[in-house]
Amino acid sequence: FHILLLNGPNLNLLGTREPEKYGRDTLNDIVSSLQIQAQELNVQLSHYQSNAESTLIDHIHLARDKVDYIIINPAAFTHTSIAIRDALLAVSVPFIEVHLSNVHAREPFRHHSYLSDISSGVICGLGADGYRWALHTAVNRLLNSN
Ligand code: DQA
Repeated sequence: FHILLLNGPNLNLLGTREPEKYGRDTLNDIVSSLQIQAQELNVQLSHYQSNAESTLIDHIHLARDKVDYIIINPAAFTHTSIAIRDALLAVSVPFIEVHLSNVHAREPFRHHSYLSDISSGVICGLGADGYRWALHTAVNRLLNSN
């Protein structure tokens, strides 16, 4: 199976960006540990981070017919992007939405997501562990659907 991990704007600054909210792990730390987990689970994991909405959309388009599951932290685009929602609907690859922080305990504008109702699951507030649970679940679901 091929799993695509997508991270949105400002997540390249993880480690130094508001660590009390997002933790001290860098994006590299998180992706390296997910690569090890992917190897153990015998799946291929690709990763892209972008600060640009268009690049994220391009990578969602490329996932069509190539990727079995998407794990996405759309960051601030969660709360703004009808375009990312439409891209995910267009390619119809199942996806899990991940947030490091508990968005529901934060500002009201973070309570709404343009993606949650079309996702196969949402994880928030578990920090970097959220990505690990997402990968675990994506692989389990793929194994059980075959
Ligand atoms: C985030 C939460 C978003 O509200 C915020 O804009 C982010 C990160 C998270 O992982 O907690 O950039 O997606």
